[in-house]
Amino acid sequence: MNRRRRIYEGKAKILYEGPEPGTLIQHFKDDATAFNNQKHDKIEGKGVLNNRISEYLFQRLGEIGVPTHFIKRMNMREQLVREVEIIPVEVVVRNVAAGSIAKRLGMEEGTPLPRSIVEFYYKSDELGDPMVTEEHITAFNWAVPQEIDDMMSVALRANDFLSGLFLGIGIKLVDFKCEFGRLWENDTMRIVLADEISPDCCRLWDIESQEKLDKDRFRRDLGGLVEAYQEVARRLGLHVENNPQQNQSGPVLVRSQ
Ligand SMILES: Nc1ncnc2c1ncn2[C@@H]1O[C@H](COP(=O)(O)OP(=O)(O)O)[C@@H](O)[C@H]1O
Ligand SMILES: [Mg+2]
Repeated sequence: MNRRRRIYEGKAKILYEGPEPGTLIQHFKDDATAFNNQKHDKIEGKGVLNNRISEYLFQRLGEIGVPTHFIKRMNMREQLVREVEIIPVEVVVRNVAAGSIAKRLGMEEGTPLPRSIVEFYYKSDELGDPMVTEEHITAFNWAVPQEIDDMMSVALRANDFLSGLFLGIGIKLVDFKCEFGRLWENDTMRIVLADEISPDCCRLWDIESQEKLDKDRFRRDLGGLVEAYQEVARRLGLHVENNPQQNQSGPVLVRSQ
């Protein structure tokens, strides 16, 4: 089926060479991993949902002027993106204490933070994505100070926008991770939002019930991951069709309103 050249296979996605130079195809797999790949499973339908949700969020961010790598969705599992040089730093924005910050600082999960906090992690599976500071990022030349400033301001702007967007559908954006890349156009370079924004890399809690609608369902063996992602898609008003190549129990959602 795939005649394209495979460039990279990661934990959740495969990158193929795109139809034009400077483009890539991002293929969303059903694989779920956690704790640096120690926990691994296939969750049928996850890739289709993430492809659709990420498309929607990148489009909405694009509309408010956030530069992104997204070009268009090709099919149920694939999207066309601009090839960028990924900055090897994961940028995490937190609004409410959960996960590693709660553990590290001895905070109860769910405690609102005094303000949004930005953290950096070095992208390295071998090292388990260790937390780093701006000092490490500049000393090791992963990014220059101006790029760090750009990443922080785009991440915070995306956080404000996405927090409001999710609030409007009864979901609290607890935290999320994003990745950035360098995009060259002629001889100018800019930093754009890359990779994906989906329930795999966000913490999303139902405002009323506090129910988790994100990858913590997998990390914490809560079950119901696809149903939770479907619920996010449904509230966003997205239509996610059943994948004919999969069994008939995949997501079939109707557009709300
Ligand atoms: N536009 C892009 N250009 C080049 N690489 C990208 C782009 N968007 C995302 N990537 C990279 O592609 C990979 C996506 O696959 P994923 O399964 O998430 O990998 P990983 O296991 O490294 O997290 C990531 O390493 C990500 O940094
Ligand atoms: Mg990834």
